[in-house]
Amino acid sequence: MLNTETLHQLRTSCLGTNRTLPAHCYNDERFLDLEQHKVLRQGWICLGRCDEVSDIGDYFTTDLAGEPLLVVRSDETTISVFANVCQHRAMPVARGGGNTHRFVCPYHAWTYHLDGSLKSAPLMEQQAELKDCRLPVIKSECWQGFIFASLNASAKPLADSLHDLDSLTGNYQMHRMHHIATFHEIWECNWKSLIENFMDGYHLSVVHPQSLRPLTPTNLCETLGRGDMFTSYVANYARAAPARKQHASSLTEAQKRQSRLFCLFPSMVASVSPDTLVYFSVQPKGVARVQVKWGVSVWEPDLPDEERNQRIEKWQQINAEDHEILRELQAGLRSSFYHGGVLAPANFEGCISDFHDYLIEMLDSQPA
Ligand code: FES
Ligand SMILES: [Fe+2]
Repeated sequence: MLNTETLHQLRTSCLGTNRTLPAHCYNDERFLDLEQHKVLRQGWICLGRCDEVSDIGDYFTTDLAGEPLLVVRSDETTISVFANVCQHRAMPVARGGGNTHRFVCPYHAWTYHLDGSLKSAPLMEQQAELKDCRLPVIKSECWQGFIFASLNASAKPLADSLHDLDSLTGNYQMHRMHHIATFHEIWECNWKSLIENFMDGYHLSVVHPQSLRPLTPTNLCETLGRGDMFTSYVANYARAAPARKQHASSLTEAQKRQSRLFCLFPSMVASVSPDTLVYFSVQPKGVARVQVKWGVSVWEPDLPDEERNQRIEKWQQINAEDHEILRELQAGLRSSFYHGGVLAPANFEGCISDFHDYLIEMLDSQPA
């Protein structure tokens, strides 16, 4: 791990400034180790949308900082997150996703209820020490239709930190939007570059000349607000951009012609427009490799297939453009001739400084 002096230098040179992080933060395995322990294992991580598990028994498996997890709709009102590890000899009890009444471990058939408690253990029914056996519960919360989990048992409740973000995005009513597609991808870049890129209005007109510039050009971007756990900006629509037909009745006239982009620190970003919500949750798998789960939700409950596909394809196009840039950026970040740069004004790259400030505070102040 890096020493405290290095972290102190980071604080001195970057915190509260318009400077980028030094390039070693994007290349150094030791820095990534530190991020895993002090940031990603401490914070709230988005695992998906609540309506990915809408019926009792719906489940999917995932991982968080190397921990196999199981997300399940245990009853009508509860989405549970468990460590996906059998308490017999550590086999993951579930694979992939689907719907079930119970989880049967594929190794020796110990069986767990949807609430994680042990239902049966073949030929071991008499063992008193199995009486309270269960899958370990991982701290979790739902916010605005998203499922979050934290490996930090003493993490502060997420919703308490997001009241300001609620007031900035609440009118879009994300919790009422309908999930239509999920993608699992690997991007070849540092995980922070993907977060920074999503929260960067400065690149929109340059990197997305066809897909975004006519709708949300860089010069119309505006900073929106930040809190301890988030930052956000507005991408205003160009005058010629067509109006979105269907949306929540709570939207103001201005909000009907805006997308609001936010980062929920450390590793989730989203863009909400009147009719479409797109989110990304990222996890590093190496200094230049990121596991990305992204999904699309829409306002309309019965969107025709053609329009549904158009909205998904538009985001696939945007993502392809971003991924190409970020892959090349990683090569530049390895150059010995880059010593950090200056960020554009707050309306365009202010969210990047906010993200860096959060990271530095986490890296430099929490126990490892
Ligand atoms: S490891 Fe699960 S039943 Fe043995
Ligand atoms: Fe982009």
